[in-house]
Amino acid sequence: MTEFDKQNYPEPEKFNRSFLGKDVLSVEQFTNRDELELIFDTSREMRKIIDEKKVSELLVGHVVCSLFYQPSSRTFSSFSAAAKRLGAIAIEIPGMEAFSSVAKGENLADTVRSFRQTTAADIIVLRHPEDDSSFEAAKHSEVPIINAGSGRKEHPTQAILDIYTIQEKLGKTDDLTITFTGDLRNGRTVKSLAFLLGMAGNDININFMSPDVLKIPEETKQKLFDMGVNVKEGSNGGLADAVQESDILYVTRVQREWFEVQAREDFEKDFGKAKSLSEEALNIIAKELGEIEYKQAVEGYVIDERLLENSRVLVMHPLPRLGEISREVDDMSNAIYFPQMRYGLESRMALLALILGKGP
Ligand code: NCD
Repeated sequence: MTEFDKQNYPEPEKFNRSFLGKDVLSVEQFTNRDELELIFDTSREMRKIIDEKKVSELLVGHVVCSLFYQPSSRTFSSFSAAAKRLGAIAIEIPGMEAFSSVAKGENLADTVRSFRQTTAADIIVLRHPEDDSSFEAAKHSEVPIINAGSGRKEHPTQAILDIYTIQEKLGKTDDLTITFTGDLRNGRTVKSLAFLLGMAGNDININFMSPDVLKIPEETKQKLFDMGVNVKEGSNGGLADAVQESDILYVTRVQREWFEVQAREDFEKDFGKAKSLSEEALNIIAKELGEIEYKQAVEGYVIDERLLENSRVLVMHPLPRLGEISREVDDMSNAIYFPQMRYGLESRMALLALILGKGP
């Protein structure tokens, strides 16, 4: 529990066809497919800059400051590369919790205000373990915040790169069947991408296939129903059939780091607050239960060559991958999880440029 948990934050400003000067906190800021088209078109322009090995001068003099409170490889490096490729000054702090004044107990509001002052940042890119972190940061920041992954809830820039990947690989984001599998409960990328697909596409069919303990939250499902998405749910046992009818199989890592938290949620739901138990006892139970649930969740969950045989399905994954996709799949034409990342570089360049008013 942190100082900003359970606060009510105002809804972030909708994009309404412009990103200029705006925070990117949530996929729910998108109102129209045109907004994605603008990102896609700009990203394709960015691809040319990368392919021609040029450094653009679009953002010369601007500062992009990345503050990461959670581990990251792809998101961190692609924001960094995006800023530099556009000529901006990139200030990058990974390991905020260990190496910044956060280790001394500084709160997010002060941290954000401080980095704006010390770096003259024009944009702050934030990754943080709390669901509402980017809202808290935006409340205290005079420059746009980009949410680079917040808690278990949102990962808007991953969703943008994912839907851009689908557009580039399939030439459409309509009339699609997509199967999501893995950790649908704790993973943030699935929730954000499913919402964007529902917002932008017509005739979207989604299969959520997961073990019982990792089911997609009701709240996410409800939002998709409201947008007219055709949602089906099943267990990993139904994966083979789902793959045969899908255009995309979006695989995710089972997120071990959240299992203690989720075990505690489940325990409290089943047994009430268990008032007679001390905080220490609850922690021990949650830890044990979390480990047991994790082992059950990863058991037998592998996407392999056999599952994909004779299937046109394209396999995506936000990565990191652990055991859930067998390495033999990497060489199959179905596998697009490595090229998927490059779309992240292009679309993050596009986003930086559009926020700073340097888009087409
Ligand atoms: C994901 C994340 O951090 O949410 N990775 C990413 O940003 N590409 C997924 C994960 O950690 O499993």
